[in-house]
Amino acid sequence: MRVYLNGRYVDAEQATVPVTDRGFLFGDGVYDVVRAAGGELIDVDRHLQRLTRGLLALRIGLDDDRVAEFREISRTLLHDNAVDGDAIVYWQVTRGAAPRTHQFPPSGTAPTVLASTTPIVLPHALRRRGSSVITVPDVRWSRCDIKSVNLLPNILAKQQSVEAGADEAIFVRNGVIMECASSSVFLVLDGELRTHPLTTQILPGITREIVLELAAELGVPIREFPALISDVGRASEMFFTSTVNDVMPIVRVDGQVIGNGQPGPISRRLYAAFAERIGAVAGTH
Ligand code: PDD
Repeated sequence: MRVYLNGRYVDAEQATVPVTDRGFLFGDGVYDVVRAAGGELIDVDRHLQRLTRGLLALRIGLDDDRVAEFREISRTLLHDNAVDGDAIVYWQVTRGAAPRTHQFPPSGTAPTVLASTTPIVLPHALRRRGSSVITVPDVRWSRCDIKSVNLLPNILAKQQSVEAGADEAIFVRNGVIMECASSSVFLVLDGELRTHPLTTQILPGITREIVLELAAELGVPIREFPALISDVGRASEMFFTSTVNDVMPIVRVDGQVIGNGQPGPISRRLYAAFAERIGAVAGTH
């Protein structure tokens, strides 16, 4: 596999960053994950915008045209690595390598820019069965809208879910359902699609945004309003969404069965619409 690092395309094994890189020392950087299918990037502009917002929020100085270059870099990587099926493209920008100080390094320190591609196998079997999730307290900071490479609470939550034999973990803050360790979360409550509104406390998921657009097109009532963990018992359906999972039905939360224990009709319709949309971009429809 070839990757892109700081202006060069190199074999992944040859791609190295200095031990003083601030991504390594401090987690001082942002990332994004873009879906690709049939060698085409899906919704790349939305991912570029989110990356730009993160860079601005963290005051990492990467010129707009360098950010825009990710589009072409990603296409080159997909092509050169012959990745023409389902795949993800990973982008990461750190504040660069410099002697370790907590404050920003001297101006002129070049950000570290990385892009890579990985083929993925879509989790269709789990989607048919429906996933199980656990709940964990949301111990994250208050800028979860920034897609920072600092993912410790997310990693610990995901590991806890794996050890519990589950597939994801829902962060709960003061009784409110926020999002999952690496995905957004939805409930169907009183016939309405419910998800947490966009605040600084959740990531603005691109799949979340698209699912809301598709739901509107399908005439599903939407309410971007916090749901409580105590609402789960009343939910007729739940699902989580992300670039690697698309729409993933949830059939158990902490062992409690959701609806009739099967992926629900709204989740299935939204997944079908979502898959069709990706298929249209990838030219497979
Ligand atoms: N995770 N919330 C969190 C905390 C996430 O990490 C992610 C994505 C999402 C969903 O966002 P999107 O629909 O744009 O993928 C929500 C990515 C896939 C990751 O960290 O690998």
